[in-house]
Amino acid sequence: MRWSGVFESFTCCVCAHSAPAKHSAIAHDVVFLIGCVFHRKDSEKRENDVQASAQKNTYASTDAGTLKNFVYLCETIYAIKTKITKTIYMTFLELCEKRFSARKFTDEPVSKEDLDYILRCTQLAPSAVNFQPWKFVIVESEEAKGKLRQCYNREWFATAPMYIVAYKNKQQEWVRKYDQKPHGDVDVSIAVEHICMAATDRGLGTCWVCAYKPEPLAELFPQSEEWEAVAIVPIGHIAEDCPVGEKKRKDLSEIVERV
Ligand SMILES: Cc1cc2nc3c(=O)[nH]c(=O)nc-3n(C[C@H](O)[C@H](O)[C@H](O)COP(=O)(O)O)c2cc1C
Repeated sequence: MRWSGVFESFTCCVCAHSAPAKHSAIAHDVVFLIGCVFHRKDSEKRENDVQASAQKNTYASTDAGTLKNFVYLCETIYAIKTKITKTIYMTFLELCEKRFSARKFTDEPVSKEDLDYILRCTQLAPSAVNFQPWKFVIVESEEAKGKLRQCYNREWFATAPMYIVAYKNKQQEWVRKYDQKPHGDVDVSIAVEHICMAATDRGLGTCWVCAYKPEPLAELFPQSEEWEAVAIVPIGHIAEDCPVGEKKRKDLSEIVERV
């Protein structure tokens, strides 16, 4: 059996059994290094085969042969790395296709690692003039979850093990001077979508929720004057029987104009 075969099976195994959450850079590098070792051995075996069949040993011992070997190895490593990167990491398009509004969760809690990852991605969202006019309230205690569920009374919403309520700061948001358009909603929306995409990347489900009742939300989660809630994001592990809607989108010809 060729080493590349072993490596191929190993890669498939890793890819088939790893949850997206485990596709860390470390896992990637470990697989990459193991791949290099296997392919190094494979190229050695190939070299032996060439030598044996041709009954000559000049190929490996000449400088040209060594260089050829080296180039072959580099090309192989590059090909493996590209393949692994493509297999293990989703492209951004794949992430966009994977994200959907999840409306049924299991009761498994969201891990600290997953939440830290999501929050770091949220923190990196861009904002107008980098004002970052936002804050994110993590709703995780039973008491707080009970209150939040009063503001958006849906059976599926209550299945989420945690929520993030995204707020904008009306005193910190950037306002365009020409027409006084405030941009806090734009900023917070970008950050909220970072939450959703990061959660998707970790194999978790989310759903934007804006159809909540704002009055009870303001009463049950009192904030000072300048803060206004923009969206609630339930986050959790997607239930097996969670409905997955078809991605219905307008045709590009309807939404794109070229001038
Ligand atoms: C600003 C905004 C508000 C939304 N509010 C709600 C909501 O209150 N309840 C809900 O179930 N889904 C809500 N959604 C989810 C949309 O219905 C959903 O994104 C859309 O139908 C496309 O489906 P997809 O997310 O599965 O691709 C909201 C989405 C956005 C972007």
